[in-house]
Amino acid sequence: MDRPRITIFDTTLRDGEQSPGCSMNVQEKLHLAQQLDRLGVDVIEAGFPIASDGDFEAVQRIAALVRRPIIAGLARACKGDVDRAWQAFQGAARPRIHVFLATSDIHLKYKLRITREQCLEQARDAVRHAKTLCSDVEFSPEDATRTDVAFLCQVVEAVIAAGATTVNIPDTVGYTMPEEYGNLIRTLREKVAGIGEVTISTHCHNDLGLAVANSLAGVQQGARQVECTINGIGERAGNASLEEIVMAMRVRPDRYRYETAVASEHLYPASQMLAEITRVPVQPNKAITGRNAFAHEAGIHQDGMLKNPLTYEIMTPQSVGVPDSRLVLGKHSGRHALALRCEQLGHKFERRELDEIYRKFVVLADRIKKVQDSHLLELIQDVSRGGVNVSNSDDAVQSKKFPPAAASLPFPRAASAAAGANPNESYPAQVSRGAGQSQVRPSCPAPANWFGGVSVPRTDHHSEQEDYLWGV
Ligand code: KIV
Ligand code: ZN
Repeated sequence: MDRPRITIFDTTLRDGEQSPGCSMNVQEKLHLAQQLDRLGVDVIEAGFPIASDGDFEAVQRIAALVRRPIIAGLARACKGDVDRAWQAFQGAARPRIHVFLATSDIHLKYKLRITREQCLEQARDAVRHAKTLCSDVEFSPEDATRTDVAFLCQVVEAVIAAGATTVNIPDTVGYTMPEEYGNLIRTLREKVAGIGEVTISTHCHNDLGLAVANSLAGVQQGARQVECTINGIGERAGNASLEEIVMAMRVRPDRYRYETAVASEHLYPASQMLAEITRVPVQPNKAITGRNAFAHEAGIHQDGMLKNPLTYEIMTPQSVGVPDSRLVLGKHSGRHALALRCEQLGHKFERRELDEIYRKFVVLADRIKKVQDSHLLELIQDVSRGGVNVSNSDDAVQSKKFPPAAASLPFPRAASAAAGANPNESYPAQVSRGAGQSQVRPSCPAPANWFGGVSVPRTDHHSEQEDYLWGV
């Protein structure tokens, strides 16, 4: 039997960007939007066009550049917002106007100062207007989970009649519980006329740590779109994490008989790219993409892992794009390995650009021995920004953004022992899947990668022949 397809609506660039410290400029948003495209998300919410000129430009440029997924732009339920969103979409391949209006009594009374009747009318009018511009219109009754259910049904019915094609049910303040949220979706399906003709969507915040559980409960009761963000970033405690939603469905098809179009091997690169751009590191124990997600420390676990990884791993690191731990990027690595690792992290370069990165990489590798993903992403950023001059690359390498030489970095016990050094008592051994190879703990604030780099056979990669082959 075919499994229902769940639409993945990524709102990293809109709700995610609203989280403290996560704002992005237009270039950064463009770059991330391309990675989201590679990841295979169905909808990218690119911004809130009326909010600022920067947001407007980001939506406009993403819609012009990224043609496969639907590009959504947020608008309050008023003509000015809807028109501005539509303006940003000129020339877009698959635009969606996303209209929202709060419906809970608490928001109506204190924030909007309107009655339920006015709310109903405003929602209907805004959707009707959006529909005259764009065939794809989504409506969100903000704070839906704290809205009187009968009134919520009334609003949802009205916006469907006005032309909404997707109805999103936000748990704006992360208040609901899985069973309760599932029941709400079921009630809407039972009571609202026309609901069978539209897509029901979840949008859950994580204030009680239940955003993913609530989203999945909504899906089980008939929601067919999930709104989520990379690394779960978003207002306050964040949104439902995209990688957790996708992998829960993939790892437990016996419980969640649904599928998504996400190419899961792009999850880790997307997570790393976001952390690098925002400089907000991924929490180490973050499911799927945290640096400890595939690390095994306890002796019993290490023993099990070495005998059979299935003992302690429910998915392979490779399945989510975590690079093979046997592979290390160091001073003996060549351009091929470097190019491959850059690609795994979502950056494809022309030969000339790669040469520049390579020269900086060699200087850095000489200094810190093992180059982690976070360091590599720094180099990539420098080159993309036209940053440090190649001739000054050593300055960059010496500067505070890179850690000191490996000798001064704390080694996990297994690595230092293997290297013949004194075991560092403060960092226990880490066995990474595959080779049992430990990683140096990076000291820079950028997202750390504990999974190693790309492996290269230890040959003389600095030979003239290789330079010749790469046309340096
Ligand atoms: O959390 C929320 O209610 C929102 C809406 C604008 C969809 O982000
Ligand atoms: Zn939200």
